[in-house]
Amino acid sequence: MRKIAIINQKGGTGKTTTAANLGVGLARKGKKVILIDTDPQGSLGVWFNIPEGKTLYHILTNGSGIEGCVYPIMNNLDLIPSNRTLVQAEILLAGRPQRESVLKESLSKIAYYDYAILDCAPSLSLLSLNSLIYASEVFIPVSMEYLSMVGAKELLENLKMARELLSHDIKVTMVIPTFYDKRNRKSSEVVSNLDKYFPGLVSSPIRVSVKLSESVSYHQDIFSYAPHSSGAEDYEKLVERVIKSMASL
Ligand SMILES: Nc1ncnc2c1ncn2[C@@H]1O[C@H](COP(=O)(O)OP(=O)(O)OP(=O)(O)O)[C@@H](O)[C@H]1O
Ligand SMILES: [Mg+2]
Repeated sequence: MRKIAIINQKGGTGKTTTAANLGVGLARKGKKVILIDTDPQGSLGVWFNIPEGKTLYHILTNGSGIEGCVYPIMNNLDLIPSNRTLVQAEILLAGRPQRESVLKESLSKIAYYDYAILDCAPSLSLLSLNSLIYASEVFIPVSMEYLSMVGAKELLENLKMARELLSHDIKVTMVIPTFYDKRNRKSSEVVSNLDKYFPGLVSSPIRVSVKLSESVSYHQDIFSYAPHSSGAEDYEKLVERVIKSMASL
């Protein structure tokens, strides 16, 4: 199972949009996928219109396994949602031994899937660290602005810490330019900077797309909401690249 954390500590870089559409895109190709929301904003649950119920909070605090916390979204796609109660879970985690590895321990029985995709919060919190310790790969969506690049670089420092202090083998396997606008010079500047900083890891960009921003309010993925949009085309390309990148791991 590939365990992919989608993370950038800068807010609003397209993490949730990427997690949702990558998850659906892979499921549509017959891959078995579980989405895991590790952000107290709980955006994935809202996106897929999940009713109130058990969430990642229960998994992290009860130690009672994942039963009742996994919601089917579509064929091949399940979701473990979160909500604001995750903030309390984080406070409880802080007092536990091996507090960075609680998520990894709690999800250790999940093996049925081909992909676990984690939508992370825009912060370097204990929850984000738990996500990094659970994951084996990191995808970084970087929007076309300077601070988003800074977020990506800071993340590299954090990964170094996870590797060295916690002896966890994790690598950045994909950097995804988001909110790309070819008419804007900043976009090509940021992408060429990314190419220098992450050689070979930069995917083709996700363009700015009104359909992408609309789709969430209809609780739909981009392939259902606007199958002929640039958003659908770009995420389809990303899905194909992710499947192909399996070979180089
Ligand atoms: N390519 C795009 N074109 C236009 N709008 C987009 C695009 N990608 C995402 N959006 C919109 O931008 C906003 C932020 O996207 P998203 O929620 O995916 O970012 P995020 O990184 O998860 O944010 P946060 O850091 O708060 O978790 C949302 O309203 C989303 O619909
Ligand atoms: Mg988000």
